[in-house]
Amino acid sequence: MARILITSALPYINGVKHLGNLAGSMLPADVYARFQRMRGHEVLYICATDEHGTPAELAAAEAGMDVREYCDREHEVQRRAGEGFSLSYDHFGRTSNPPTHRLTQHFAEVLEAKGLIAERTEKQVYSIDDARFLPDRYVEGECPHCGFERARGDQCDNCGRLLEPTDLKNPYSKISGSRNLEVRETRHLHLLQTKMADRLRAWVDAAEGWPSLAKSIANKWLDEGLRDRSITRDLSWGVPVTKDGAPRPGFENKVFYVWFDAPIGYIGATVEWAEAAGQDWQRWWRAEKGAGDVSYVQFMGKDNVAFHTVSFPATILGSEEPWKTVDRLKAFNWLNWYGGKFSTSEKRGVFMDKALELLPGDYWRWYLTANAPEGSDAQFTWEHFQTVVNKDLADVLGNFVNRILRFAASRFDGAIPDGGAPGAAEDWLYAEVDARLAAIAGHYEAMEFRKAAAETRALWAAGNEYLTRAEPWTHFKTDRDRAALGVRTGVNLARLFALAAHPVIPASAQTIWTALGLSGAPDAWPAGKAADLLGELKPGHAFTPPDVLFRKVEDEQIAEWSARFGGAG
Ligand code: 2FM
Ligand code: ZN
Repeated sequence: MARILITSALPYINGVKHLGNLAGSMLPADVYARFQRMRGHEVLYICATDEHGTPAELAAAEAGMDVREYCDREHEVQRRAGEGFSLSYDHFGRTSNPPTHRLTQHFAEVLEAKGLIAERTEKQVYSIDDARFLPDRYVEGECPHCGFERARGDQCDNCGRLLEPTDLKNPYSKISGSRNLEVRETRHLHLLQTKMADRLRAWVDAAEGWPSLAKSIANKWLDEGLRDRSITRDLSWGVPVTKDGAPRPGFENKVFYVWFDAPIGYIGATVEWAEAAGQDWQRWWRAEKGAGDVSYVQFMGKDNVAFHTVSFPATILGSEEPWKTVDRLKAFNWLNWYGGKFSTSEKRGVFMDKALELLPGDYWRWYLTANAPEGSDAQFTWEHFQTVVNKDLADVLGNFVNRILRFAASRFDGAIPDGGAPGAAEDWLYAEVDARLAAIAGHYEAMEFRKAAAETRALWAAGNEYLTRAEPWTHFKTDRDRAALGVRTGVNLARLFALAAHPVIPASAQTIWTALGLSGAPDAWPAGKAADLLGELKPGHAFTPPDVLFRKVEDEQIAEWSARFGGAG
């Protein structure tokens, strides 16, 4: 049994996340966590809301709320949305909680002691009318690279380039709209990444479990040359800056930069989990406490990769303390909305809470896994969504379960019949099931989610093909034993399908499981040969056919949703 630590990129607190966020981090992390738990491994899946920085302050101001109250409310909204999507976090924490604050201050103090942090004077945009500095997203203006007119001080949403507030042309205050701005000097802590370049390069070179997307992004950053980076901001909401455990003189009105504390939140949220569950967090994060045996897997969108392969490792490695670092990093491309982007700030696309009002979580989970933005960007369209869920879930899986259990219930009194010995149809099926189950497991191990979903669908399709070959309905009148064999095998297949489906569509897998008269959950990955697996449910075992497992998505629904949510339907 291995120990596997899984984190998905921490979602910003400002507003419930859209389907693109779900598809590129939380959902695949959950699917992977479920699969590895089924394999019998000890899994810890950690996530949290990323609550600091200008996105949180601006969103709170827009909502007319105190920022802490706003974060309390939005954390709860995101927690509930996660529950609605069956995200099986072991803990869903908050970067605004004390453990992340303490750890952030710890890292900064240790890095300073190692000579990797220096106080420097820098130039920042100051708003005379607002009487304050305007860090990051508090200032907007024209992008110096592409000319986009509403580029934010930290990043241009049009060309994706990272920016400094002072890079913007014709800047204005996001608070008041004022253009009465000037550049003033302010003192900040800088992380001396230039001193870390060789160490980071060696660490990246030695990393084995990173897919090519992650490695190429890391190398690009290293090749471009690391820059010393300011890790504090002139803001009030965030982790206070300390020195020797006390407020740092001159930094009373400053806090750490959100990207400095956010990844530390992975550790902080693990501490929250441990405190609540009476567990030892150090087993997962500290080498001297056994974390050397942990395999640490991170899930994130491609825009987050540089922060996880360069910035966060600079913090961790720079401390020279025995922290666990990432072993495997799975990065995703974008899920696009009708060729454009899903966007939180522009409210474009479908968001997690609204999606659950339309259909149960499993429909979305299946679509977003089968259509994961893995090798390249993927497109969401309502029509594609409808086609995929109707075909895969209703026609293939739902139809199989329905056909076999209804027939079995009506002709064999709701219990598995004894039957004849396996023949040609069963031999075909055994070979098919053995090959498919091995392929699915292999794809999950390789974190190839689209392929895993495609194989899962192929496994279900093999079930329908088997029923066509075995024809229990035809044989029922003439050869009852043969019909009974088909039914016994078919009901066992339904059990196997629930197991194979569990990582992606856990609620539906549970419905099948319960209908089969089984207790507990379909939570152990089927090990062994198909010939044995398909004999697990013995003659006499009673079951009840479930109600329709998946309702088809109708054209009228698609028309209505297209009109309601936009998209070129
Ligand atoms: O891009 C984002 O949504 C960030 N909130 C991800 C942070 S990941 C981790 F470092 F916290
Ligand atoms: Zn731009």
